[in-house]
Amino acid sequence: MAGEQMDLFQLAPEPASPPVDYASLDELNRACQTCQKCRLAETRTHVVVSRGNPQASLMVIGEAPGQQEDETGLPFVGKAGQLLDKILASVNLDSERDVYICNVIKCRPPGNRNPEPDEVAACKPYLLAQIRLVNPKIILLAGAVAVQAILGDKRGITKIRGQWFEWQGYACMPVFHPAFLLRNPSREVGSPKWLMWQDIQAVRARLDQLTKA
Ligand code: URA
Repeated sequence: MAGEQMDLFQLAPEPASPPVDYASLDELNRACQTCQKCRLAETRTHVVVSRGNPQASLMVIGEAPGQQEDETGLPFVGKAGQLLDKILASVNLDSERDVYICNVIKCRPPGNRNPEPDEVAACKPYLLAQIRLVNPKIILLAGAVAVQAILGDKRGITKIRGQWFEWQGYACMPVFHPAFLLRNPSREVGSPKWLMWQDIQAVRARLDQLTKA
């Protein structure tokens, strides 16, 4: 790992609250379903905890459910989710078999507004417990909300995407959020989509290394 990136990791703050000690993902899921820790409980249709494989070596953390996720109770099932599936499939990763997908926030913010800091803080113990229980080899942080929640790094995603960070023993890579890629569809060399293609190939290569080790 480059010296500069290691220093940044060391500067990243520890999570504000320790993970609650759920014994299993089922237990965690049950706790989420009845959660009333923040105002988003009043407006949600479904709590959105995860999809994919809890035994996967790769975990993707997004921001928060959108409308389709709120309707179905599953993360990343709308247009951004379909693009995420395609990005993963481009390196032969199946989003149900090879990946565990979740969000920082488990309930939809009304109108898809950005989550408030107190909402992130309220939901964070669930995310930390998910990481501990899934225990992936690699964590993809999709977008600035996920980067800030885990690494505590407030720099723009454009500055830090594609770099490896170590957080509590996990190899983490910030990447563009798929919704951002939908708004920037160019595939030219150097475009966000092209950069995502570089990043996902790097993830695939590291995953192969770590799972063969
Ligand atoms: N965007 C996210 O960050 N998460 C979802 O589940 C859907 C869209």
